[in-house]
Amino acid sequence: MSRVSLRVNGTDHDVECDVRTTLLDALREHLDLVGAKKGCDHGQCGACTILVDGRRINSCLALAVAYQGREITTVEGLSDGDTLHPVQQAFVDNDAFQCGYCTSGQICSAVAVIEEAKQGWPSAVTDDPPEADIELDHDEVRERMSGNLCRCGAYANIIPAVLEASE
Ligand code: FES
Ligand code: FES
Repeated sequence: MSRVSLRVNGTDHDVECDVRTTLLDALREHLDLVGAKKGCDHGQCGACTILVDGRRINSCLALAVAYQGREITTVEGLSDGDTLHPVQQAFVDNDAFQCGYCTSGQICSAVAVIEEAKQGWPSAVTDDPPEADIELDHDEVRERMSGNLCRCGAYANIIPAVLEASE
């Protein structure tokens, strides 16, 4: 067992857990933050996506003990009180989910995707990467969100939601 100090959604927490506990299990089982979902537990579906220092990671592949002192943001930390984050609002407005199981991962991923494009990080479908501020289009969003699977197949509405939020 080990004491792990995690900073999640702006609040510091001390968690007493087995050193092999994943970040996903620490959030869900110890901090009752169940927004991030366990889909595959193998880094293949994206349901567990959260943000660490603004970058997206699969929390099922991360050991909690390795993320002490980092700024962790889960889907619960995106809104400002009752005001949804623009990406959350866009998912609602575009009806971008069915069962919702993948949705928190999709939303966290989309928040990071928009930031990555703004910083000029090219994707596999970026033709001529500019210095910064890559404009997201349908193909860019499809490629950049390809690590987030939706078993309901809500992609037809997820892509417009991400594009709307990016604007
Ligand atoms: S649960 Fe982490 S990628 Fe599927
Ligand atoms: S909305 Fe059901 S898995 Fe995506």
